Amino acid sequence: MIGRLNHVAIAVRDLEKACAVYRDTLGARVSPAVQQPEHGVTTVFVELPNTKIELLEPLGADSPIARFLERNADGGIHHVCYEVDDIIAARDHLVEKGARVLGGGEPKIGAHGKPVLFLHPKDFCGTLVELEQA
Ligand code: CO
Repeated sequence: MIGRLNHVAIAVRDLEKACAVYRDTLGARVSPAVQQPEHGVTTVFVELPNTKIELLEPLGADSPIARFLERNADGGIHHVCYEVDDIIAARDHLVEKGARVLGGGEPKIGAHGKPVLFLHPKDFCGTLVELEQA
């Protein structure tokens, strides 16, 4: 069911610093920062030949990333994103398999303008999983 790895997301305290690490130290191509108030984050994408790294900085008072950074002071891997062909079919399959879909199970529009869903980390080896319709 899952297809390509779309991105790995890393939560950071300081997006400017994180961009400098990826751009200047690692020599990667880094996109401009985009605020996504409905997700409580500011995002930057690092474009690699075979996938992307999503750098996430908290935006607003009750950002889900702020809570993550309380537990992970230096930042860290926040989620992985896999592509699926049909997000509704994928959701229905996962629910049937007993997996928990976060946020009531209705897809939201994600950072790439495509429908996304998040799956409970306890059902997926301790890792928050994002599904994005390809
Ligand atoms: Co993501």
